[in-house]
Amino acid sequence: MLLSALVLATGVSACSRDLLVEKRHTHRQPITKRNTEWPPVLSEPETILVNAFDNVTIDEWAYYYGHQNKLAGYGREAAEWTAARWTENGFDTHIAEYHVYLSYPVEASISVTYPDGRTAPINIVEPVIAEDDVTSREDTIPTFHGYSASGNVTAEFIYAGRGSIADFERLVELGVEIEGKIALMRYGGLFRGLKVKNAQDHGAIGAVIFTDPGDDGEVTVANGYEAYPNGPARHPEAVQKGSTLFLSTRPGDPTTPGYPSHEGAPRADPSGVVPQIPSLPLSYAAVEPLLQALNGHGPTADEVNRTIWAGALEADYSVGPAPGVTLSLNNQMEERIEPVQNVIAFLNGTNSDETIVIGNHRDTWMIGGNGDPNSGSAVLIELSKAFKRLTDSGWTPTRNIVLASWDAEEYGLVGSVEWVEDHVNWLTETTVAYLNIDVAVSGPRVSLSASPELHTIGTDLFKKVVAPNGGAFNESIYDSWQRDAGGNVGVLGSGSDYTGFVHSGISSLDIGSDGGDGDPIWMYHSNMDTYHWMSTFGDPGFYQHRAVGQFLTLLGYHLASDEVLPIDVQNYAVELRAYRDDLADFIAASDYELDIAALSEAIEVFGTRADEAKALETLAVTLDDKELIRVVNHKYRDFQRGFISQGGLPDREFFRHAIFAPGLDTGYAAVTFPGITEGIQYDRLEDAEDWVTKAADAILRAADILKT
Ligand SMILES: *[C@@H]1O[C@H](CO)[C@@H](O)[C@H](O)[C@H]1NC(C)=O
Ligand SMILES: *[C@@H]1O[C@H](CO)[C@@H](O)[C@H](O)[C@H]1NC(C)=O
Ligand SMILES: *[C@@H]1O[C@H](CO)[C@@H](O)[C@H](O)[C@H]1NC(C)=O
Ligand SMILES: *[C@@H]1O[C@H](CO)[C@@H](O)[C@H](O)[C@H]1NC(C)=O
Ligand SMILES: *[C@@H]1O[C@H](CO)[C@@H](O)[C@H](O)[C@H]1NC(C)=O
Repeated sequence: MLLSALVLATGVSACSRDLLVEKRHTHRQPITKRNTEWPPVLSEPETILVNAFDNVTIDEWAYYYGHQNKLAGYGREAAEWTAARWTENGFDTHIAEYHVYLSYPVEASISVTYPDGRTAPINIVEPVIAEDDVTSREDTIPTFHGYSASGNVTAEFIYAGRGSIADFERLVELGVEIEGKIALMRYGGLFRGLKVKNAQDHGAIGAVIFTDPGDDGEVTVANGYEAYPNGPARHPEAVQKGSTLFLSTRPGDPTTPGYPSHEGAPRADPSGVVPQIPSLPLSYAAVEPLLQALNGHGPTADEVNRTIWAGALEADYSVGPAPGVTLSLNNQMEERIEPVQNVIAFLNGTNSDETIVIGNHRDTWMIGGNGDPNSGSAVLIELSKAFKRLTDSGWTPTRNIVLASWDAEEYGLVGSVEWVEDHVNWLTETTVAYLNIDVAVSGPRVSLSASPELHTIGTDLFKKVVAPNGGAFNESIYDSWQRDAGGNVGVLGSGSDYTGFVHSGISSLDIGSDGGDGDPIWMYHSNMDTYHWMSTFGDPGFYQHRAVGQFLTLLGYHLASDEVLPIDVQNYAVELRAYRDDLADFIAASDYELDIAALSEAIEVFGTRADEAKALETLAVTLDDKELIRVVNHKYRDFQRGFISQGGLPDREFFRHAIFAPGLDTGYAAVTFPGITEGIQYDRLEDAEDWVTKAADAILRAADILKT
């Protein structure tokens, strides 16, 4: 996963631009029906699939992946191993290689100099943990930011909160000089690459992004919990690596916009989507003295008056700068075009024009990566084993099942985007759905995001999987998900490999599970996301891996086998109305007036067409008319293509879905009706007006595909 899912957003906002990102009220309705049936009733094929999941073999796959160097460009061995497992399980497997632009760390250091001339080095190295074998390996990967610029800068520094556009604008309002300074920003909220972009856009010459224990809730060393490896709290020296690509502008290989990175492909200048200033990540132990040096200098946290400004370290989180206190940040990177390997496996169905793609990335920032993404990688090996049990029993899928193990996701969804660009015609002709699993497990709480037509099948199948407590409480993961997620299905923004599919108009879903308040702290993108952590704290016994894997397998099975595709187009109309109501509220709270009647009319046309399609489905089933069922299935497969708006969103043509997209300044969290909403948010009323028409047209195109 490119980004941590932790997006805490509470309290007041200081600026109207935060309304969208930080407000939580929505007209979307949670799914609240309780699961009454116990124990779950499974069909014979479902039973075979669910019983194939074995925590002992999942543990074996997790151990394998947890001891390989899988950094993009270094991951061929794990690719070949993955291909061999899928081949053993009856899939027709090949490696799809692309030659992509990547960057690697060469040399880095940070030091602070005080007005009296004293200089102190700041630690940028993660510790060796005696109990955790992979942390001491010679090929352990240093802390760095993918695609960061090379540079060696010395300057006074300021604290800029989370580094959002609104944070920087607040500093400008307060008269803080950012030009020529180094910006210290805490992780969380928006994607890290956008923090660096915002610092750069405001004239900063370097950036440091640190982890703050204020994001760890109750489970902190300050609250008396022991740190890893002795307890569940974050290790004070854990560092979050990660990419600093400008993700909300364009994912994929930065040098091949819109076309696949084959060897010898022409290369574009990447400078519009990668930073021009150097940056490094820091642990909370390392950053604390730097924050303390700012105490009493510049505006205080109270004067800044922004949500999530002060964190939990022993400092007052003043902005600074502290006169004469300087930071020297040296970061030297090497850019190279390197081969990366997607593993692609086919189990072809009897209907060659209908395809389900199930994907997970394989690359990591560290030797381990047992949450991100080895938990998902282990699940996909076990899933292939389950499908082999079913084919051994005589089953053939109706639709093609394609498994994908993506490379270079961490740098910016590179492997999946290049593959989608390479096969976009076949994909848009045949693909019914893309199912993504990235971090299958970083904690015990299941979370689901999906395009609206997959909400019903997704949550219905939750009821068929026994919750990982072994059913001791007679609970399915539907019940545990109700408790943990309140019945809310997320809207797809970005941050994982579904992005290339969504913005090609393909139904998509993302499944995983993470931690919440009180759960052990997962050290996202740190060398301490390891097999040892997972088997000790994250998922001892690998039961959560098993449950999430059973769910994904049942979902793949139903989409590949059900005679009528379990695609709920009527729910798309329900969601569109809720997004529209959210938009109306947003416009009402802004300084603008905008007529969205055309949008409302298009949604009602869509609703009517969806009802008619459903009626046609019922008729086809009643008559048992195979040809008519096929017609309905193809409408369900294709209607999403209508939502794609050629030319894409303003200044970011990759993002073409008119209904949802990652926010320009979130990179992660989704914005609905992005063209309209961001037009209002960033004072571009003409764009907003233009996108009322474009979104309405897109909805009418989708409605037209459903027309009976
Ligand atoms: C902080 O911001 C809020 C919301 O904009 C405002 O109501 C409040 O008066 C501000 N407080 C101070 C101390 O400026
Ligand atoms: C970085 O700059 C410092 C002085 O600011 C210098 O001592 C050091 O040699 C430089 N490092 C590189 C790799 O240029
Ligand atoms: C499966 O389908 C794909 C895509 O149409 C095709 O390239 C491949 O050759 C097929 N494999 C088999 C074994 O038929
Ligand atoms: C769980 O369900 C079983 C039947 O499957 C029943 O015998 C048992 O009493 C139930 N346990 C609890 C705690 O409800
Ligand atoms: C698998 O589950 C069993 C209990 O069902 C447990 O005893 C065993 O330790 C687990 N194995 C692993 C490798 O986690």
